[in-house]
Amino acid sequence: MQGWLVPPPKRSTKSPKDFERERAAKVRWLITRGYLGAERIRRAFLKVPREDFIPPDYRDYAYLEVPLPLPGTQATISCPHSYPLFYEPLGLDQDHRFLEIGTGSGYGAALAREVVGPQGLVVSVEIDPVTFAFAKANLKRAGYHDVVLVQGDGGLGYPELSPYDRIAVTAACSTIPPPLTEQLAIGGRLIAPVIEQGTQNLLLLEKTAEGIRTRVIGEVLYVSLRGAYAA
Ligand SMILES: C[S@@+](CC[C@H](N)C(=O)[O-])C[C@H]1O[C@@H](n2cnc3c(N)ncnc32)[C@H](O)[C@@H]1O
Repeated sequence: MQGWLVPPPKRSTKSPKDFERERAAKVRWLITRGYLGAERIRRAFLKVPREDFIPPDYRDYAYLEVPLPLPGTQATISCPHSYPLFYEPLGLDQDHRFLEIGTGSGYGAALAREVVGPQGLVVSVEIDPVTFAFAKANLKRAGYHDVVLVQGDGGLGYPELSPYDRIAVTAACSTIPPPLTEQLAIGGRLIAPVIEQGTQNLLLLEKTAEGIRTRVIGEVLYVSLRGAYAA
C-alpha cells in the first residue's frame, strides 16, 4: 500500500476492555480534530467494534490511523477517520437508503446500518469474492443480518433497490460511474475519491432537480476501483 506504513502482523494480545478504551479515545480524538460531529454517527462509532472487522494478525492495530490489509486482492479496511470523513459531508442520517461501493471488511456497512436505523436501508457491493466472503462472515458474527450484500461490480450500482439517498464509493475512480449518479435520488448525495492529474480528490456530488453540483472535500489515498469503470 503505497503512501501508508502498515505495521507488521502479530498475534493479538489486547482484551475487549482495551479495545473499548481505545474506541472511546478514538471518538474523542475524531471530535477534537473536527472529523466527527453528528450524534448518530458518533453513537455508531462507539457501538461498532472495529477490531471484529480486522484479520486476527492486525486486530491490535484497529484504532491506528492506518488502512490495514484484508483477505482478497488490494482490499483494505480504511483508517478510522475515513468513515466520518465520508459520512459527515454526506449527511448520512436516520431512514436513509444508503449504497456503499467496496464492502471491504464490512465495517463501513455496519456503521451505516447503525446510523440509518431500522427504517433505513444499507446495500453494499464488493467485487472481490474473497473479500466479499470475509465481510459477510464479519457482519454475520457481529449481528448485522439486515445489510444487503451484493458480490459484483459496484461501478454498475445496484439498480434493483435504487434510488438511494446517499452513495459512498470507497475506491478511487477516474470519473464517477454514470450508473451511480443515475441511481441517486433527487436531493441525494454521493461521495467518491476521484483521480485528477495524479491526485485523488474526495468529491461530494449533490443531485438536484436543476442538475449536479460537486465540490472537493480534500485529498485522499484509496485503492483503485476495478471493473467496468476501473480507474
Ligand atoms: C478501501 S476498501 C473498502 C473499505 C470498506 N468500505 C470497509 O469499511 O472496510 C475498497 C474496496 O473496494 C473494492 N472494490 C474495488 N473495485 C470495486 C468495484 N468495482 N465494485 C465493488 N467493490 C470494488 C475492493 O475490493 C476493496 O475491498
